[in-house]
Amino acid sequence: MNRIFSGIQPTGNLHLGNYLGAIRNWVNLQDDYECLFCLVDLHAITVWQEPDELTANTREVTAGLLASGLNPNDNTIFIQSQVSGHAELAWIFNCVARMGWLNRMTQFKEKAGKHRENASVGLFAYPNLMAADILLYQATHVPVGEDQKQHLELTRDIAQKFNNDFKVDFFPIVEPLIFGPATRVMSLRDGSNKMSKSDASDYSRINMVDTADDIALKIRKAKTDPEALPDSAEACAERPEAANLMGIYAALADQSLEEVCGQFGGSTFSDFKKDLADLAIAKLAPIQEEMRRLMNDPAYVDGILKTGNEKANDLAAPVIREVQKIVGFLIP
Ligand code: TYM
Repeated sequence: MNRIFSGIQPTGNLHLGNYLGAIRNWVNLQDDYECLFCLVDLHAITVWQEPDELTANTREVTAGLLASGLNPNDNTIFIQSQVSGHAELAWIFNCVARMGWLNRMTQFKEKAGKHRENASVGLFAYPNLMAADILLYQATHVPVGEDQKQHLELTRDIAQKFNNDFKVDFFPIVEPLIFGPATRVMSLRDGSNKMSKSDASDYSRINMVDTADDIALKIRKAKTDPEALPDSAEACAERPEAANLMGIYAALADQSLEEVCGQFGGSTFSDFKKDLADLAIAKLAPIQEEMRRLMNDPAYVDGILKTGNEKANDLAAPVIREVQKIVGFLIP
């Protein structure tokens, strides 16, 4: 059986990187797989979250997923903290994964930065919880942006070690699904940094709740270089800012990067930016409108999540029970 699991942190500032790198792909995959999509609030609290904001952001990000086109009847959309199996399996994986494996995780190094001693233990163990999210449902495929690749490799290592240690063939070895022209959307201010929720500059990202004027302004101010636009995908390789903006255009227009280079190669950035802003505004407008509507109807959003939580708990319960038996926990 093929089953998809993917997750998103409910930390606000849902941005174009989340949409193009992940959510849009989820929408495209939802008819071909059984899917679970999770608001990973346990992951969110690995760095400080104001409690009220966490609650509001959980609803907002859920509204974003629904507005983007995820169908809540066919998919299970739910909240991580409301299925206790995530934390239970994560603990077991804390005892399977090795310190050396986690020490290699680049995301921890980036997020903890120079303040490693002051980072939460949860931030360090974050990838084990991520492995638990996926394997709790014995999911086989995980659609994510490029930045999650290393975490999925760790998930595979954990599944393999668990199966080997306990001499079982229980957890699947998951396949990452990283595809499309925008697997790594970069900051609008710096083509060598990814677009992220936590960047101090709001000009670095296009938020899903930005107005048309904000979007146009941010694209106009986006960093570029002095040359005309590159005319081939190879020529983009040396031009990170141009490659990023053209990749965003390609993703929004459902074209390949090569096609966009063919269309705009040799143009000036100012002309291209106008077209990109028009396209982004037009593509995001219907999603934004639906998102606003849903955010005004929290009872509906909560209802979807409640149903999702129940479905997820039903799927997780037998897996956790089986894992407990495999590990040797007495279930009297
Ligand atoms: P998060 O919340 O940071 O991001 C959600 C999804 O958006 C993708 N993404 C991007 N894609 C392209 N360009 C970008 N600039 C960009 N920024 C974010 C991410 O790759 C992700 O797919 N650890 C995960 C959440 C998670 C998870 C899981 C994912 C928890 N458990 C299990 C898959 C399976 C995270 O922090 O995503």
